[in-house]
Amino acid sequence: MSFSKWFSLSSTLYLFMPAALISCNISLSPEELDKTPVNFLDFAKKPEVFDWMVGIRRKIHEDPELCFEEFETSKLIRAELDQMGILYTHPIAGTGVVGYIGTGGPPFVAIRADMDALAVEELVEWEHKSKVPGKMHACGHDAHVAMLLGAAKMLQELHHELQGTVVLVFQPAEEGGGGAKKMLDAGVLKNVEAIFGLHISSSDQIGTVASRPGPVTAGSGIFEAVISGKGGHAAIPQDTIDPILAASNVIVSLQHLVSREADPLDSQVVTITKFQGGGAFNVIPDSVKIGGTFRAFSKESFAQLKQRIEEVITRQACVLRCNATVIFNENENPFYPVTVNNKDLHEHFQKVAGDMLGFRNLKEHLPMMNSEDFSFFAEAIPGYFFFLGMDDKTKGKFVRGHSPYYTVNEDALPYGAALHASLATRYLLEKQPKSTLHKESSHDEL
Ligand SMILES: *[C@@H]1O[C@H](CO)[C@@H](O)[C@H](O)[C@H]1NC(C)=O
Ligand SMILES: [Zn+2]
Ligand SMILES: [Zn+2]
Repeated sequence: MSFSKWFSLSSTLYLFMPAALISCNISLSPEELDKTPVNFLDFAKKPEVFDWMVGIRRKIHEDPELCFEEFETSKLIRAELDQMGILYTHPIAGTGVVGYIGTGGPPFVAIRADMDALAVEELVEWEHKSKVPGKMHACGHDAHVAMLLGAAKMLQELHHELQGTVVLVFQPAEEGGGGAKKMLDAGVLKNVEAIFGLHISSSDQIGTVASRPGPVTAGSGIFEAVISGKGGHAAIPQDTIDPILAASNVIVSLQHLVSREADPLDSQVVTITKFQGGGAFNVIPDSVKIGGTFRAFSKESFAQLKQRIEEVITRQACVLRCNATVIFNENENPFYPVTVNNKDLHEHFQKVAGDMLGFRNLKEHLPMMNSEDFSFFAEAIPGYFFFLGMDDKTKGKFVRGHSPYYTVNEDALPYGAALHASLATRYLLEKQPKSTLHKESSHDEL
């Protein structure tokens, strides 16, 4: 991209921003390019842009939709894209939408948001509380959509300047359904060279971001088991085969997988979250159902856990004369791979986010046992996932996601939108052959 294009990029921003937000005279020195992230942030903080993003987020918040049911959310996204004149493909994976901004040709860089809510009953009393009983945006995906649309707005303002194409990925079903995998299988990342995603985070300060190169979220899977015995009278145990006791032993034995078989320096989790059986005080039931999740940071550890969970459940059940069947329902709940951040994209992120927020506001994020289906994208092409701070003690307490008391600090929206836009723009810029940076070229080339 030529300097003249950067000049007009800046002037486009200027035209859209009447105030002295870009007060500095636009210089054509290379240092000036480092100011684009700040310009994007200033743009996103403009009341008309900010209020519009907040409005979108609240509208989605009021009407939360679960995995693969994001029909209204998808409709709203498409209406906004139509309004902005952005081309898109729909439906993908049911409710997914993929928009395109720029030349329509290579290089392609993607930015992604998830759209789904959780089966949580909102307990926050506020004007835009969820109107759907038992469903809530308790993970901030409503904010993620608003931020990606915010980025789309900024990028669309500059679409003549983009040398390449930004792909906007709005995906369904992050919370367990593996929507990303379905989008990937549908080919949305075909020819795309890199993808960026973010998660809003209550454990990081507003104005900061946190991430790391390499593994950032764990691989995860779920399992269920039925442990069958022979029911009967609670007072005559000798005539029964007690599945409650067998299931209890199974659960205790499963605790030993991480404590005794895993390398203490290789983080893993096995958690039992379901234990269902019986219904009377004086009857031993025929069977018990258990279920849970397991997580690890490498394919090997993950496979090992999976195999041992099955063995421990079936063999331990056998000790008490029960039979057990174990299922890993991968169709309904696909295993999520480890999210691994690409090292080159980490450098890119550091530069762009550092230019926007100041380098002291880039934090190291330790790998976490949570999982993210962004991992499917990052497994297929170079990907980068980061956490966007929203904590602000002056505005109260922001609890962790998946809580019925979850709230979003909407002041974080401009940061997310501007980071998406800057990461994509600068990525395309860096993909340009270096020589064109120094050659005067005109808009006629476009
Ligand atoms: C366990 O399975 C075996 C083989 O199918 C069967 O004979 C036995 O009755 C089963 N035991 C229980 C407690 O269901
Ligand atoms: Zn979540
Ligand atoms: Zn989430």
